[in-house]
Amino acid sequence: MEGDERVIRAVNLTKRYGELVAVDHVSFEVKKGEIFGFLGPNGAGKTTTVRMLSTLTRIDEGEAHVNGYNVMTERLKVKESIGVVQDVSNLYDELTVEENLNFLAELYGAPKASVDSLIKDFNLPRKQKFGRLSSGYKRRTAIVAALIHDPPVLFMDEPTVALDVHSAKLVREMILSLNKEGRTIFLTTHNMGEAEKLPHRIAIINRGRIVAVGKRSEIRGLLGSGIRVRFKVEPISNKLLRRLEEYSPSFDEDMIAVEVQDVDSFLEEFYSLREELGFRVLHMETQLPSIEDVFLELTEESEEPQTCAVSCGGCPI
Ligand SMILES: Nc1ncnc2c1ncn2[C@@H]1O[C@H](COP(=O)(O)OP(=O)(O)OP(=O)(O)O)[C@@H](O)[C@H]1O
Ligand SMILES: [Mg+2]
Repeated sequence: MEGDERVIRAVNLTKRYGELVAVDHVSFEVKKGEIFGFLGPNGAGKTTTVRMLSTLTRIDEGEAHVNGYNVMTERLKVKESIGVVQDVSNLYDELTVEENLNFLAELYGAPKASVDSLIKDFNLPRKQKFGRLSSGYKRRTAIVAALIHDPPVLFMDEPTVALDVHSAKLVREMILSLNKEGRTIFLTTHNMGEAEKLPHRIAIINRGRIVAVGKRSEIRGLLGSGIRVRFKVEPISNKLLRRLEEYSPSFDEDMIAVEVQDVDSFLEEFYSLREELGFRVLHMETQLPSIEDVFLELTEESEEPQTCAVSCGGCPI
């Protein structure tokens, strides 16, 4: 593992359930210290991918390495390297938070002191029974449970799903602080707010196949439609609208919206129009496509074959 910055490597990872190819020759890499967002609609294959990478289910085809260890042949080493947070937790309702965590610490041979500091760091109600906790505290306790053996890699399968806004925010802060400590985080989500904020890089999976991989800015750039520019000018004249025709102007509230490929050259033209027509500019803003726009476009219900627009160095399409 020394010197290898790729903490997770999946090559042609495939899982079949009978006729269904739940994960279909998926390839990607996650770098050390990254939060890698794995986005996809319901049934896309996110959980199945997490389960394969974390040794919880068999890989049918292809191979994967986690923390430098082969997931199929070095399962124990992989298990020691990872923490897994799933929607169903393996904690006991009748035990307190502290008892649950101490039990896990014993199982992993981790020092009890680490349980103590984790409880303090993440503000957990030590003496309360797990079964009586709110969903938010349950999730945070489950995350701490995955940290007991101090793994460098964390798999989190929709860690904020079904949490209220405040609890979800606390979990996101937890994810960021764990990442700041240097942990690599594989995060599945279909929460677009989360996808906009947390991951350094994103893969979008649809029907078992990766349809895009890249940094957030690269993913946003995948929509061919360009950048939306909105502006408010006074007065709006027919002449102005005619001169903007090539940008297909439309009205958006009291602003004019256009789509441009190159903001710089559009602005040059716009300001020379202002010289010529003498209007005043009251407001101007640019809007990049959001991750959600791209997600919706790439995961549309369609039979069309998908094309990968980012050179991800490994995806099969
Ligand atoms: N144990 C199983 N047996 C049969 N089919 C399964 C099994 N587990 C998952 N599948 C199917 O594999 C596909 C991928 O499921 P998976 O749970 O990986 O999707 P997901 O992206 O995690 O979806 P969600 O967002 O709903 O959690 C789905 O069509 C699902 O029905
Ligand atoms: Mg899932």
